[in-house]
Amino acid sequence: MASTEQDAKQSEVTMEEIVALCKRRGFVFPSSEIYGGVGSTYDYGHYGVLLKNNVKAQWWRAMLQERDDIVALDSAIIQSPKVWEASGHLAGFSDPLVQCLGECKKRWREDHLREAVEAEGGDPSAELRCPECGGELSEPRQFNLMFETHVGPVADEGSTVYLRPETAQGIFINFKNVLSFARKKPPFGIAQIGKSFRNEITPGNFIFRTREFEQMEMEFFVPPGEAERWYREWIELRERWYTDLGIRPEFLRVRAHDSDELSHYSSGTSDVEYLFPIGWSELEGIANRGNFDLTQHASHSGEKLEYFDQQTKERYVPHVIEPAAGADRATLAFLVDAYEVEEVEGRQRTVLRLHPRLAPVKVAVLPLVSKDGLPEKAREIFADLRRRLPAEFDEGGSIGKRYRRQDEIGTPWGITIDHETMEDDTVTLRDRDSLEQTRVPVEGLGDLLVGKLEAPWQSPKLG
Ligand code: GAP
Repeated sequence: MASTEQDAKQSEVTMEEIVALCKRRGFVFPSSEIYGGVGSTYDYGHYGVLLKNNVKAQWWRAMLQERDDIVALDSAIIQSPKVWEASGHLAGFSDPLVQCLGECKKRWREDHLREAVEAEGGDPSAELRCPECGGELSEPRQFNLMFETHVGPVADEGSTVYLRPETAQGIFINFKNVLSFARKKPPFGIAQIGKSFRNEITPGNFIFRTREFEQMEMEFFVPPGEAERWYREWIELRERWYTDLGIRPEFLRVRAHDSDELSHYSSGTSDVEYLFPIGWSELEGIANRGNFDLTQHASHSGEKLEYFDQQTKERYVPHVIEPAAGADRATLAFLVDAYEVEEVEGRQRTVLRLHPRLAPVKVAVLPLVSKDGLPEKAREIFADLRRRLPAEFDEGGSIGKRYRRQDEIGTPWGITIDHETMEDDTVTLRDRDSLEQTRVPVEGLGDLLVGKLEAPWQSPKLG
């Protein structure tokens, strides 16, 4: 799609609608709410945990189950401070901070302000004013984003450590360990999911940018001559991961970084961007990191971090291709893309058209009425189904209300147990998206649903 066409495109949903649904249905809450909140920090409720777990499980599936050249790792959050010296984070992981010298005294990221001016057709190099109160702004000062803390009882210089700002470095410092047991040779990857921490100057937009977040990162080690090929391959694979899980292709694009945007370690980076309600924004970055990280850690630690090819007798420092995604940001994109409000028989219905594999609950078991043995029969069916896939039993309130609740949490299938069930052992199977209701036998219900779960799926919003 041409970029002008893309730029004209708008998200169909507002962030306020997503935040409201997340609060109403227990996906995500503002953290420390009873104390007035702590600002841009969030807690995941039951359905939020299940949804984000499913996002992470699908990532693991793509990395580990569907290929055999990647192994898993779970490294520590607190690492030697020397790691951050070698990686360049201590010296260079900073953002330019400006403060309003006028009335509001707010702090801003200078680069974000210049980007906003440029987006509105202005001159980004012109003098900036505070967007809040129009006040003069201070000179920019570099602000390091790493959270500092101390190990042990004495908070002196020697005890300073940092909460990791990315999971990637934990992978590089384990390169040798993994190589010694994994029986892999380049090209091969090490994948990790875990929390990262950044003291962001301007967090915001719900779970899009927070100070504590989860990353899903994979470092793919390749012979130097193959780096460009694998860089292209991973851009394609990662874009497809999102569309296979239901993200509509026209709401997704790949944007290559200009040379002045590249991080110090990167010889090429492309972002997979999604059209969030805040506009096109980074969902995941795929970087060609060259041999920067292994070379840096080798020279700072004195360890050899290289690969010796027994066949060719060649010794080399592998180059690294890194797809780095955010689990929270991906969760937000899936929520936004799935959200729809439609009119059904004169009534409004809010529905999350999530890919069934991502849906927190796959099937809801609903007795039509709470009498005549229906709840007991429904519990029997529920007990059977929950062994096969995540299921929920709900007997409270009218059937319409229960369906609406399941639609809002994205449950793809509903099973209704009625008086006919008691006679012929069949139930009504309701499809979240088509609203089609079919009569199916209880026997084989588990197999039927598991089969549907594994079948290819495409968003009904594609039309
Ligand atoms: N190791 C490379 C790296 O960390 P990054 O682009 O800074 O690259 C990768 O981060 C991904 O992590 C981003 O594309 C985004 O999805 C997620 N991420 C980064 N900062 C975040 C934040 N403050 N809040 C939520 N997610 C964030």
